[in-house]
Amino acid sequence: MLRFTPAILLASLHRGYQSEVNGMRTEARRHKSMSYCCPHDNGAARLFSRFARRQRRRYEKRGFQPSQFHLIEGLTQAGVNGASLLEIGCGVGYLHQHLLQQGAGQATGIDLADQAIAQARELAARRGLADRTDYRVGDFIELVDRLKAADVAILDKVICCYPDAQGLVEDSLARTRRVYAYTIPRDRWFIRGGAALLALLLRLFGSPFRSYVHDPGRIESWVTAHGFVPRYRNQTAFWLTQVFVCPDSLGGF
Ligand SMILES: C[S@@+](CC[C@H](N)C(=O)[O-])C[C@H]1O[C@@H](n2cnc3c(N)ncnc32)[C@H](O)[C@@H]1O
Repeated sequence: MLRFTPAILLASLHRGYQSEVNGMRTEARRHKSMSYCCPHDNGAARLFSRFARRQRRRYEKRGFQPSQFHLIEGLTQAGVNGASLLEIGCGVGYLHQHLLQQGAGQATGIDLADQAIAQARELAARRGLADRTDYRVGDFIELVDRLKAADVAILDKVICCYPDAQGLVEDSLARTRRVYAYTIPRDRWFIRGGAALLALLLRLFGSPFRSYVHDPGRIESWVTAHGFVPRYRNQTAFWLTQVFVCPDSLGGF
């Protein structure tokens, strides 16, 4: 008799999730020149707009998450003094605003969620950073042609929110002069299981948004293929943080 143990249940949930994710990736590639992630983008924008105020309150109460301390440590070691920052999927903006307060020059923050950007603008104004920040609402891949290159690109828990990881990484590398930093989920069975469970919940609530556990080795290979070398690596139980530098531009900002 077939028994539905939690492991079997999780495995079949994961199989279903994986085929859905593969379908979205293929769709994303096929429509590269169009606004291909529309349902996904709209779902992400709605979801993260809904949580924007809460995200800002959480930061004001508890400060950075452990993986963000890693990101700040890696970026500080790589050097951000005077640098221009490009934060993709910046949420309510506190990470690049902290780096501005630590000596970075200016920052561009991009996010799909208009409410997150509204919170980021407000927070920047309160911190006296309004004239050093520029915020845009939209999908980075659609905005990329209108953006100037930055010294430092930051993608904190964003690659996992996008079906076409390679497109997002390569387009952002093309706009990065010196330092490339990201935090992504580690590829562990319980994180994949969690993503599958989350997909089930989102489907039940009618949201087209999905999260993805992209292969960390492949992400690293896309970055190093652009001439960047690994400079910093750290991890928590869930998150892997990596910072890369481009040796051709080691002269500073
Ligand atoms: C998990 S949240 C992380 C927010 C912030 N980086 C943090 O760690 O607090 C992911 C954010 O990325 C944004 N996002 C996802 N894909 C994006 C894309 N292609 N372009 C711009 N923003 C994106 C979402 O709207 C969301 O606010």
